[in-house]
Amino acid sequence: ESAEKGGFPSFMEKEIHDQPDAVAKTLLGRSDIDGKLTLDELRIDPELLKHVDKIIVLACGTSAYAGQVAKYAIERWCRIATEVELSHEFRYRDPIVDANTLIVSISQSGETMDTLMAVRYAKEQGAKTVSICNTNGSTIPRESDAVLYTHAGPEIAVASTKAFLAQITAAYLLGLYLAQLRGNKFQGEIKDILADLNKIPAKIQRILDNEDQIKELGVSMKDAKSVLFLGRHVGFPVAMEGALKLKELAYIHAEGFAAGELKHGPIALIEEGQPVFVVVPSPRGRDSLHAKVVSNIQEVRARGAKTIVIAEEGDEAVKAYAEHVFYIPETDTLLAPLLSTVPLQIFALALASAKGYDVDQPRNLAKSVTVE
Ligand code: G6P
Repeated sequence: ESAEKGGFPSFMEKEIHDQPDAVAKTLLGRSDIDGKLTLDELRIDPELLKHVDKIIVLACGTSAYAGQVAKYAIERWCRIATEVELSHEFRYRDPIVDANTLIVSISQSGETMDTLMAVRYAKEQGAKTVSICNTNGSTIPRESDAVLYTHAGPEIAVASTKAFLAQITAAYLLGLYLAQLRGNKFQGEIKDILADLNKIPAKIQRILDNEDQIKELGVSMKDAKSVLFLGRHVGFPVAMEGALKLKELAYIHAEGFAAGELKHGPIALIEEGQPVFVVVPSPRGRDSLHAKVVSNIQEVRARGAKTIVIAEEGDEAVKAYAEHVFYIPETDTLLAPLLSTVPLQIFALALASAKGYDVDQPRNLAKSVTVE
């Protein structure tokens, strides 16, 4: 078993370290040197894909957060309205689905019953279905019209890490492919984004090479009772995933919030010493979101929060307000979740390990939930 763990103390730690490879393998062979997407494996008539007028992403758990990230990218690149819905909510609300709806299910195992039932329901309504899945030949891809496999390799630890990054990567590829097919005004960006995407594995490796600092923080916070996570734009699903990892592994109260929502309620939770992670958007990004999130850090700090910031390298502005800053390499704004998630995974792993918990088999959870 120790060989299977590649010398790491747990499968989860190994899988976190597999992430550069998981992303690289998911990208492999899916574009040519001219920056053109080649997703021929998607056996869906391109004409049908051109006429899709709505995308609904269906998933549960961590996979649903990959879907949330996908929404920001697909809407921006393809200009197709995209919803993300938890599979178990979807078919019980009489959703509006027809032949021009593209369903994108995301499932690591391909066996999650809630997601399978939602996909079946959508098919009955005439929708086209694409599965993003990590398990070859599993039920959801078999029952879908098309599949885009993530090549993360088997994921053993119950809490998902490398499958999550591979799912986000596959969703980006699908989004870029749809944009290419539909020839919209973001055509020119595709090549640049693809080039940035290809640089991600080496950048994840750089974060992993510097993991000690975040591990130490995780150990030092082992007695925390509650940890909050704030993010905005694609940083919002990252914040929720950071909180989910902590709930799953360390059994402590953790919540992810949209940073803009802080003033509408969550700020009331802040008291002296409350740890708050803030996923800060790039200062190079659009819409001055960086300044807005930096002011959120100031607001919670002024109320006594202990602020821990994930920011882009070179972002000096955050230093004045943060107790700890973890820097991630620069990338395209929409691709940042492939980097900003990694320190949060390492933090949860280190904190739960310091508490003496089994990080591979957390209590009450199953890797694949095959009942509704
Ligand atoms: C379970 C696992 C989660 C996972 C979710 C969805 O609850 O514990 O880690 O995110 O199922 O699984 P799937 O295989 O559909 O991605």
